[in-house]
Amino acid sequence: MTNKRRLQKLSPVAGIEVEGMDLASSLTSHGINQIKSWLDSYQIVVFRDQYLSREAQSRLTSSFGPLEEHKGLSGSGDITPSLHIIANIDSGGNPVRLDPSDHNLFWHIDKSYLSNPVQFSILHALETPKHGGDTQFANLYLAYNELEPKMKERLVGLRARYTRGASKMVGRDINTDIQYANDQNQQSTVSHPLIHTHPSTGRKLLFLDIHADHIEGQPQEQGLKLLKDLLEHATQEKFIYTHNWLQGDVVIWDNRCLLHRAIPNFAMTANRRILRRSLVRGFNPIQA
Ligand code: SIN
Repeated sequence: MTNKRRLQKLSPVAGIEVEGMDLASSLTSHGINQIKSWLDSYQIVVFRDQYLSREAQSRLTSSFGPLEEHKGLSGSGDITPSLHIIANIDSGGNPVRLDPSDHNLFWHIDKSYLSNPVQFSILHALETPKHGGDTQFANLYLAYNELEPKMKERLVGLRARYTRGASKMVGRDINTDIQYANDQNQQSTVSHPLIHTHPSTGRKLLFLDIHADHIEGQPQEQGLKLLKDLLEHATQEKFIYTHNWLQGDVVIWDNRCLLHRAIPNFAMTANRRILRRSLVRGFNPIQA
């Protein structure tokens, strides 16, 4: 790590770009604490021109805490444990269209459906399209701050229930949603408070994503309607930072206070978009 660091704010919503840190070399605990402190202040930290091997990304990630395993399938059909490739490629490496129902395309918090959702997420751009293929982040502190006072009061003490499959409800009508949510609720055991206190900053935030399908103690229809309205509120343009990827980017974000989604705004059959993701295991959301 050199001492010549330059910081540049990326937007009024969130995000800072840091120059002068080499993430491929082992960072000292001071360096990691510095990044954590930027995350507390800016939620997203961007480093350009980093070319991390799998080992280096794994080492960087585990400096923040234990690696979260991922049981999903990669584009090539492999189960991807702690480093996973997010890509629009087929098994021969050719660029293909993303599945429009891919949950990464919808607003989510990594592993919100676990009792301890991910703390920090890291994406490293290995290959980027010439244009587009952005990732958007929505700031959940700002979403909380701009709720009407009456709504803030109404949400105190409410808990949303989460299931992995609930993301597939996106775009369905409310009746289909209810049927789907009823089916999923047979398996659903995880719930989190809708209003959290961030464990590091002590700031309040609105916490929900596409995996939330139910509000405890409320009729299904009423709960779903409220969740949809809140998600719409939280993802207004004024709360969003859009990251335009460059090859070599490493983006670290605080998953405890941001929603994110991939934007399919690129020529998918002509361009490969390959990101390597790693996650830092969970935190226990604290009721505000
Ligand atoms: C993710 O949801 O973790 C990936 C987002 C992206 O592909 O931009």
